[in-house]
Amino acid sequence: MKSKILVTGGLGFIGSHTVVALIEQGYEVVIIDNLSNSSINVLGGITKITQVTPEFENIDLRNKEEVLGFFEKHTNIAGVIHFAASKAVGESVENPLLYYENNLATLIYLLQRLSEKEDANFIFSSSCTVYGQADTLPISESAPVKKAESPYGNTKQIGEEIIKDTCKVHPNLKAISLRYFNPIGAHPSAEIGELPIGTPQNLVPFITQTAIGKREQLSVFGNDYPTNDGTCIRDYIHVMDLARAHVVALKRLMNNEAESNYDVFNLGTGKGNSVLEVIQSFERTTGKKLSYKIAERREGDITAAYADTIKANSVLGWRSEKDLDEALESAWKWEKKVTDSEKN
Ligand code: WQD
Repeated sequence: MKSKILVTGGLGFIGSHTVVALIEQGYEVVIIDNLSNSSINVLGGITKITQVTPEFENIDLRNKEEVLGFFEKHTNIAGVIHFAASKAVGESVENPLLYYENNLATLIYLLQRLSEKEDANFIFSSSCTVYGQADTLPISESAPVKKAESPYGNTKQIGEEIIKDTCKVHPNLKAISLRYFNPIGAHPSAEIGELPIGTPQNLVPFITQTAIGKREQLSVFGNDYPTNDGTCIRDYIHVMDLARAHVVALKRLMNNEAESNYDVFNLGTGKGNSVLEVIQSFERTTGKKLSYKIAERREGDITAAYADTIKANSVLGWRSEKDLDEALESAWKWEKKVTDSEKN
């Protein structure tokens, strides 16, 4: 009998890659997605890769009754991986209540249901954004959580606290928060990838859209930071490595391998790359010359962040395997596929 896993936000960027990894590991998957930041076409991409079409329910997790109804219908959910949330830093500053409702009320409704179960396994999509500008690099899980720079970052910090407090009074609920660094890339088949709606906020989709001619020119947000080449440093992790980490973390909970019922892991490569290094890697890997200019700094950006991966490597038994070139090559292959399908 296959274990059935709920993936909320399962038609999103990281969610869809994790659904593929779960199916390939023999799990049965049911997806909840309200399609607010994804497309139903992603389900077709998942099917093309796995030859399996997971169950899909178009539910808005802000609707408490719908969440209740889902768990009354699906009584055999063995684990939940919770991706569904709003994630645009800038938008969260303009519309904080949208973020507090969509990222926190939904989490609370899910936890209310899971805390009633005899055995509940919960993986939470968190972010290195909780560290702000860390005092020391690389950043370990013991680094202090700093005052969030945005409501988005605040919802990740508060979300982790809500889960931790709930686990304290519900020993039957086991949870892990995964703090992602910068997810990039796409499945090597180019059947699924990142689908930013409107103008991409993140670096890599902006690079690939510039290279394919959808964007005029990339603006590099500042080259006067205290780094080797003056541009910001980040830890860019391939989405395939990230997806695999979710399956490893879920297995850890389902096999009751953890001493405590709440833990946190950083998911990164442990290597930092500057914006200019990412551009150079893209040009070298794809042979495409990128048009870019140096622009003003972006409000809220930190100088540098890259992960201390010791805990994920030693405790979780996971490490990233793909490098920056491979991630950018897959992102470029995906961009070309999306653009071709838009033309047809
Ligand atoms: C990376 C670097 C920019 C765009 C955010 C969230 C994080 C996660 C990933 C959700 C920075 C520079 C970018 C551009 C640029 N989101 N840049 N020109 O800000 O590190 O992280 O997205 O889970 O939680 O905080 O990622 O890709 O936006 O920026 O120069 O057009 O690229 O200044 O140095 P970021 P990013």
